[in-house]
Amino acid sequence: MAILELNNVTYIYKNKWQTTRAVNNVSYAFDCGKVYAIVGKSGSGKTTLLSMLAGLDTPTEGQVLFDGTPTNKINRDAYRRNSVSVIYQSYNLFPLLTILENVTYPLELCGMKPASAREKAKKMIEVVGLTDVVYRRYPAMLSGGEQQRIAIARALCSSAKVMLADEPTGNLDTENTANIISILKDLAHREGYCVIIVTHDMAVAEKADVIIRMTDGNLIPEA
Ligand SMILES: Nc1ncnc2c1ncn2[C@@H]1O[C@H](COP(=O)(O)OP(=O)(O)OP(=O)(O)O)[C@@H](O)[C@H]1O
Ligand SMILES: [Mg+2]
Repeated sequence: MAILELNNVTYIYKNKWQTTRAVNNVSYAFDCGKVYAIVGKSGSGKTTLLSMLAGLDTPTEGQVLFDGTPTNKINRDAYRRNSVSVIYQSYNLFPLLTILENVTYPLELCGMKPASAREKAKKMIEVVGLTDVVYRRYPAMLSGGEQQRIAIARALCSSAKVMLADEPTGNLDTENTANIISILKDLAHREGYCVIIVTHDMAVAEKADVIIRMTDGNLIPEA
């Protein structure tokens, strides 16, 4: 069974002045064990779609199902904490926490003892190619690509089987991009994760198992 399913999902942004149909009646099923790449022009609805998969929001119409249950019927705080991990387009690091605290914090939130949380955080910081030099710095003291890798390290700490990533390699050089993509592929192929990456980079998309194109709120899977 699909781990995540979109069932006739529409998302409409509405304010006093305008209505934008960002996602337009989309249906799709995502399985475990695969890397999906969602590609499409700026403004085509990719982040909006990812927000619904991440449980940050629910559809205006239709349903997002996680393991068969609609996300508007589950405790979405628990869903976000335990079932999905997200790498945001804008990283979303906590500016007033150090780098090590940023990676450790979600683990402690899930009840891990501080010492074990720190140990795991350090390991993942190493996995994304950074060292103890960054532990005590604040996010603003890191380059864009370093911040992006810390956001990835934080997501890698999670044991959630669904990994959602919005432009995870947007600020990385080719070497770091290749490293991150190979980590995400390993998670999917060896550990059965469902990995969904939004990307503008066709070289990244081509490494995925499935490429899905988004155009004006519509999803078109590519053969
Ligand atoms: N908070 C909002 N209020 C109103 N409209 C919005 C809001 N957020 C996004 N939109 C609109 O919804 C559409 C889809 O936006 P979205 O952020 O999902 O695009 P995207 O594919 O992620 O683009 P990018 O590649 O630039 O990140 C766009 O037309 C955008 O202007
Ligand atoms: Mg976006």
